[in-house]
Amino acid sequence: MMLNKLVNLTKMNKEITDDNKLDRSRIPSHIAIIMDGNGRWAKKRGLPRIAGHREGMKVVRRIVKRANQLGVKALTLYAFSTENWKRPKPEVEFIMKLPEQFLLTYLPELIEENVQVRTIGQKEGIPSYTQKAVNEAIEKTKHNDGLILNFALNYGSRFEITEAVRQLSKDLDAGTISAEDVDENLIGSYMMTKGIGDPDLLIRTSGEIRLSNFMLWQLAYTELWFTDVYWPDFSEVDLEQAILDYQNRGRRFGGV
Ligand code: IPE
Ligand code: IPE
Ligand code: MG
Repeated sequence: MMLNKLVNLTKMNKEITDDNKLDRSRIPSHIAIIMDGNGRWAKKRGLPRIAGHREGMKVVRRIVKRANQLGVKALTLYAFSTENWKRPKPEVEFIMKLPEQFLLTYLPELIEENVQVRTIGQKEGIPSYTQKAVNEAIEKTKHNDGLILNFALNYGSRFEITEAVRQLSKDLDAGTISAEDVDENLIGSYMMTKGIGDPDLLIRTSGEIRLSNFMLWQLAYTELWFTDVYWPDFSEVDLEQAILDYQNRGRRFGGV
């Protein structure tokens, strides 16, 4: 009886930021998330860091589902940075196996939910089995027109910008564009996020207040939302809270 009451109470609390409170007409189109804190989540429990990464993968599934239900158009998830290679080899290897595992388990569900999988990041360096799994997911979901699930894998913003400048320079040399053509739109079209609008809302978990080389070009006017919650503890309610806070902000884009 007591337990039942407790469960009900927890449920009620969980529904505090129920989407009834959310303005369905002002859901951020593009949400980007720096999924941080897996290692500390595990450490707190006396578990190896990889246990945090495994748990984090399950959270990805739930958050994708909820974002899709809420009508978010694109969700970019920072899964592995160009700097994360500095970590111990076994940890890197474990993380690199996660996309394959994730897709093996959840690709049918993503297909059913009309999700389109994409990636940004440097392909070079990613193990072939990871690339194969990701490519298969991209191929099998390319005609889906629901949520765009964009994994930032081996992604670094400075790498992205460097590559964009390199390609742009080549096109200038080749004469396919001229210096007069270079404007913000053109530069944007050389970014890996081409075709996806800039994020409206950036979420970072784990209490770190920094961008860690994530989407520096695209985040120019994004609303930033930070939480102390570690990624494996991040829930649908946290997502809704972030969206609610977003809806209570006034975006001015430099105007009044
Ligand atoms: C985020 O969690 C996952 C990746 C960067 C791959 P971390 O592994 O960075 O966890 P902390 O920040 O060490 O707790
Ligand atoms: C950012 O987290 C990268 C990802 C979440 C994939 P990090 O844990 O690597 O960032 P820092 O090192 O704390 O800045
Ligand atoms: Mg971290």
